[in-house]
Formats: sequence, C-alpha cells, structure tokens
Amino acid sequence: MAHAASSGTPKFSSRLAFVMAAVGSAVGLGNVWKFPYTAGENGGAAFVAVYLLGLLFVAAPIFIAEVLIGRRGAASPPQALGSQAVEHGRTNAWRIPGLFGLVGGLLVMSFYSVIAGWTLDYMLTAARGMFSTFDAAGAEAHFDGLKASLPRLLLWQGLFMLATLGIVAMGVRAGIERAVSIMTPALGILLLLLVVYALIIGDADRAIRYLFAPDFSKLNADMALAAVGQAFFTLSVGIGGVMMYGAYLPKDASIFRASGMVVAADTAVALLAGLAVFPIVFAHGLDPEGGPGLVFVSLPLAFSAMPGGDILGALFFFFLLIAALTSAIALYEPTTAWLSERGVSRIKGTLIAAGGSWLLGLLSVFSFNIWQDVDPLGFIPSLQGVNFFGLITNGIDKLVLPLGALVISGFVGRVLTRKAVLEELNMRDGPLFRIWLFSLRWITPGVVAILFLVNIF
Ligand code: PFF
Repeated sequence: MAHAASSGTPKFSSRLAFVMAAVGSAVGLGNVWKFPYTAGENGGAAFVAVYLLGLLFVAAPIFIAEVLIGRRGAASPPQALGSQAVEHGRTNAWRIPGLFGLVGGLLVMSFYSVIAGWTLDYMLTAARGMFSTFDAAGAEAHFDGLKASLPRLLLWQGLFMLATLGIVAMGVRAGIERAVSIMTPALGILLLLLVVYALIIGDADRAIRYLFAPDFSKLNADMALAAVGQAFFTLSVGIGGVMMYGAYLPKDASIFRASGMVVAADTAVALLAGLAVFPIVFAHGLDPEGGPGLVFVSLPLAFSAMPGGDILGALFFFFLLIAALTSAIALYEPTTAWLSERGVSRIKGTLIAAGGSWLLGLLSVFSFNIWQDVDPLGFIPSLQGVNFFGLITNGIDKLVLPLGALVISGFVGRVLTRKAVLEELNMRDGPLFRIWLFSLRWITPGVVAILFLVNIF
C-alpha cells in the first residue's frame, strides 16, 4: 500500500511498487496493438532497428528525465516545471508546455479508449466461443463489423473511459498499485505462450526475417520519425504522465535502476507481440501493412487454432484490457492533479478530463465508419486521405511527443543545475551519468531537430 509522506504528497510504498506502476503505464496497447501494425506499415525490420535505437538513446533518457522532474517537483507537470524553473532563476512560463502536455494526454486517451473498446469487444467475442469458428475471412469480417457499428464502438469506448475515471477519481493509493502487479506478468506469460504457438503454426522464418533482418535501403526520414515517436509512445513519455509517477516515487529509490526495469519489460512485451502477430500474418496471407486492425485479425486466428483458444483468447484480451487501463490512468492523472492543485476535487477534475477526451474521442470513433473518408487536412498533399484517427495518432507520435521530449530534455539538460540533477538522481558524476546528460543535451534535440527538418523539406 502507498502511504502519505510527511509532505502530504502520496507516495508509492516502495521502489517495486513504483516499477510495477510504471511498467503498467508503459505496457499497454502501444506494445501489443500499435507496435506490430506501425512496424508493418513502415516495412518491418528497418523500423524495428530504429525503434530500438530510439528507445535506448532517446526515449529512455527522456523517461529518466521525466521521473526526475516529477519527483523533484512533487506536483502536476505544469506546476513541477514552473516551480523548478523559478527556483533556477528562469521564467514561470515553463509551466506552459506542461499545460500542453495535459491536453496531449486527453488527445491520446481519445483514440486509446477506442482501441481499448475493441479489446473489450474481443474479450466478450472470445468468451462466447467465437474465436474457434474463425478463418481468415471470418476474422476480417468480424473486425469490419465492429468498426461499422457505431453503437458498439461508443458503448465500449464509454465503458473503458468510465473504468479509467473510476480508478483515477479514487486516487493513487487505492487505484494504481493493486491491478498492475498481477495483471502485467499474466499478460506477459500469455503472450509468451502465443509466441510459441504462432512460431509453430505460423510462418516463423519469414516473420523473424521481417522483424529482425533490416533492409536499410527502406530507411527514410518519415519512417525514422515514426519509429522514434513509437519509442516515446511506448514509454509514455513526452506529455507529463511519467512526471506524475515520478512525483509519487519515494526519495530513496534509484531512478536509473527503476527506469531500466521499465524499459526492459516494455521492450520485451513489444517484441513478443511482434513475434506473436507476424508468423500468423504471413501464414494466412494477411497484409502486414493492414493498419490498426492487424492484431485484431491475426491474434484471433492464432487462438482459433489452439486447444482451449476461446478461453485463452478471452483471458488474453482481458489482460490486455487491464494493461490498457493501467496505461490510461497516466493520461487523466496529470489533468486531475493539476486541477486539484487549483481546488477542484479529484472527482470533478477527473470528470472534466474524461469529458474532454470523450468529445475528442468521437473523432476517432467516426473515423472507422461515417467519417472514414473525411480528410480534414487533405489540402496538404502529404495528408491527403488521412482521416481524424490517422491525424491524431500520427500527430501524437510525430509532433506532440517529440516536442514534449525537446522540452523535457532542455529542462533537465539545460535549466536544472548539474548539482540539482545529481542530487535528485543520488548518483556520482560518472560515465553513465555523463552519457545520459549528453543524450539529453545533444542526442535528443539533434535527432528530433534533424527528423523534423528532413520531414518538412
Ligand atoms: N505507453 C502506453 C502504451 O504503450 O500503451 C501509451 C501511453 C500511456 C502513452 C500514457 C502516453 C501516456 F502518457
């Protein structure tokens, strides 16, 4: 159980509780749903290679920096940024990117909740024994039917938001810690089982080559930006969610070590998801560039071939749903915490966050049916044919999170003093620290700036 620290800020009870909660935030639909289809849309292994490099050298250092800002500031992201900027003789305007981060969180929730809704639908579909009846055509038809049904999409999305709202409104103590520590390992175990099965019944050779034998001639700036964006997304960095976890981390826990565990667990789950999905995709002649439906068509096919597949499928989608829920918490928490600093109750604050993301979420729901072909920015040649869902997901990965990462790297790398940073990390000014600081000062800004520029021109 978490307990109130003397300052009054609630804290996680231990480093392990923090690691579990942060793993819960990182592991979610981004790993199991988004990673495979984004890798597929971007040609496979070259994307995966850039993604892994991006994780290690760009996103992981930002994760550590975000935890640091959060723990040192012990407040919501705008407040944590503003107060530490002032303490260092800078302007309070640093709180403004923190405010953008709050909106970013609601924007992520707007589409995240739709996909989490699909997960809920699939859990029930499996529980009704339908996976075992699926062949490739049947699985595709089922998915198409779900996308076309406004009432189902709205109901599932709404239910998911209500569940998130409930947990956030209850507060960090009761909500976050409990669910994660059992469910995330359970998801990992089922995923492992799925990988073994997929490798046996699917086209293992082709899948492994597709994911791990990069053809760097396929590399281009847009794909590299998508890969780095996915690395940010999967670690939940760039919009302040990780700062909130940092704010709840006890002072004596090592930020570096805790962060390393989160990155390792998160990467493992994403790679496992890729290894579960692509053997099936190739064996059934599905299109690896099939987009957001990839996992929802391929995995039911794996379950359909498996003894007890309906029960295991239902369990899998249940655990995935919980993984989505524990990620979604970090999307409402910053807004709720910021409003509560302004005297708005947690319940009211969470309702405001949920209401905002629900309204935005309609754009994504409609993108799968009545507004499927609406491309609001179609007058820009490169955005022709991209609907709201595409704009929001791509906008998050390729614009919002990289900009957030720039702010965070600048703040820790250049605003906070070296002494303050070392103190908070509780470590020596040794090689590890220096590599990390170098990454914040030069690699992140360099990579993001180059990718932005090359993509614009
Ligand atoms: N990291 C989560 C996932 O991979 O599913 C998604 C996410 C959660 C992104 C929270 C950003 C965030 F603040």
